[in-house]
Amino acid sequence: MTASYATFPAKRMRRLRRTSRIRDLVSETSLSATDLIAPLFVREGIDHPAEIQSIPGHFQHTVHSALDECKKYLSLGIPGVILFGIPLHRDSRGSGAWNPSGIVQVALSTIHDALGDGLTLISDLCLDEYTSHGHCGVLDSQAMVDNDATLELYRQVAVAQARAGAHVVAPSGMMDGQVAAIRESLDASSLTDTAILAYSAKYASALYGPFRDAVDVQITGGGDRRGYQQDLRNSQEAMEEIALDIAEGADIVMVKPALSYLDIISRISSTVNVPVAGYHVSGEYSMVKAAGERGWLDAGAVMMEHLVSIKRAGARFIISYAAAEIAEMIGR
Ligand code: PBG
Repeated sequence: MTASYATFPAKRMRRLRRTSRIRDLVSETSLSATDLIAPLFVREGIDHPAEIQSIPGHFQHTVHSALDECKKYLSLGIPGVILFGIPLHRDSRGSGAWNPSGIVQVALSTIHDALGDGLTLISDLCLDEYTSHGHCGVLDSQAMVDNDATLELYRQVAVAQARAGAHVVAPSGMMDGQVAAIRESLDASSLTDTAILAYSAKYASALYGPFRDAVDVQITGGGDRRGYQQDLRNSQEAMEEIALDIAEGADIVMVKPALSYLDIISRISSTVNVPVAGYHVSGEYSMVKAAGERGWLDAGAVMMEHLVSIKRAGARFIISYAAAEIAEMIGR
């Protein structure tokens, strides 16, 4: 009798790929709706939600329609949202960001009053949507972002958001020392239970393009954020940023964008003990949607592949504009 090579270990992969039940049984990564956080935009001074052209399926919401959207996410099994505000007026210090009657604070308290702890409310903590010049901080006399003066404002934003009902504040401005400053101000206001999700490794990326349209932010003079966001050529510095943020009190650290930075997610998640999140950003979402609209690829399948890959790389959860459609696909 001739030897059958089908019984050798070399054929193991084939045996384990034969049926979908067996494939599920041996899969290492699972993606569920509970791994997803949906971004949510609320705009001050509008009566009806306005579609965001560059992020298909997403809207600038009124406070009322934002609450409806939250209920939809809950029904899909999505555990939380991250809120971004678009104020009616902008000024040089971004005062709408910390004013108790600022749009995000109003939205947070409305949603929190209605849903309590049923939906986790994360608030993006930055000034860029609120400043007239579009930078993430206040400017000094040379029109450069003043790191330490900005921290004083971030402290106030954190307290305003937490008092309004944020369970988690998410500093995204990449100022040095921002996590320590925010933790200290929250604790000093007896808001010790409010968690910090730090955008720790946030790269200066062209993939944020569609988001800037969503919040109507242009940096004056065609400037960019390379002076404070990370250089995409580096990964060592991401390790340093993460270590500093954890030492300063970050409860969760995040890598952003996610797909072009899977190596960073993988490296970080294998070395730190706090949860690592990935932000699947606007450009990563919109380019797949655009190709899907042209019939060039199956947008749903590609989106699923991308999100599973972000989890496989080591992200514990993912912020994604595709949260609702992926939750629907998983539920089917
Ligand atoms: C800053 C912030 C940005 C995003 C999230 N928070 C914009 C930026 O850094 O320029 C981008 C998110 C995305 O592209 O989906 N408030």
